[in-house]
Amino acid sequence: MHKQPPLTFRQLHLPYPKHGIIGHRGLASQAPENTKASFIAAATAGLSWVEFDIQPCASGEWVVFHDETLSRMGHGSKRIRECQLHDLQSLDIGSWFNPMFTNERILSLNEVLPLLSQLRLHPNIEVKLFDNEDSLLMANLAIELGSLIQAHWPDQSTAPALVSSFSYPFLTAMRAQYPDCPIGYLVEGFNEQKIEIATAASFNTLHADKKSLVTYLDKHDIKSQLPIFCYTVNDAPTAKRLFDKGISAIFSDKAKLFG
Ligand code: G3P
Ligand code: MG
Repeated sequence: MHKQPPLTFRQLHLPYPKHGIIGHRGLASQAPENTKASFIAAATAGLSWVEFDIQPCASGEWVVFHDETLSRMGHGSKRIRECQLHDLQSLDIGSWFNPMFTNERILSLNEVLPLLSQLRLHPNIEVKLFDNEDSLLMANLAIELGSLIQAHWPDQSTAPALVSSFSYPFLTAMRAQYPDCPIGYLVEGFNEQKIEIATAASFNTLHADKKSLVTYLDKHDIKSQLPIFCYTVNDAPTAKRLFDKGISAIFSDKAKLFG
């Protein structure tokens, strides 16, 4: 089969991430992940894109938070899904990283999107769903998320937000509701079948873990046109190898990998 180059960011109607780097959870090496400080750090370091994680909380809002529970941040084992927004927003989620970040609070999606626009950072919104949701709930979550993005991401018509998830059912619900929404399929354990699944579902990008992708690329070239992003890459030799092999972008906790 003739090897096709991956689609360009322009063909995907997305801006190009400067140096091919998407800041991971903001810029997680410099500030507590997924906080305002982390997004400011990414912008200050010259990045043009950030990835961050969201999930629904008990009062219905989408909050910017990676884990299923609060325990890593030192606030007990309660699930985010069982907490009200105003309780979540009273918690310090910065001092676990460094006492200088004691004022960092959990952001809602409504708050983070205008902040990123102000900072000129393009969003990759990763949707974390920890429960097995039924298809009706998936459709409702997709509709809610799509309308929030449309209401709060000012550049949605010219530079749309990229929505990604490990949840295939959520992404298919999102695609059904929003045919034009850029969608990234997150996988752990890269293989050609994952490309076939993403292509068949009309997703726009495939986001693969570093270990399995590097192992695959040691033996094979990628023949598909589907752009592939790799998480999480914090060293220059791996980043260079991935870019040489045609990987379109990497997620990194660091802004400067080369020099
Ligand atoms: O979206 C890429 C990457 O963030 C996926 O893994 O666990 O860091 O959300 P995780
Ligand atoms: Mg993530």
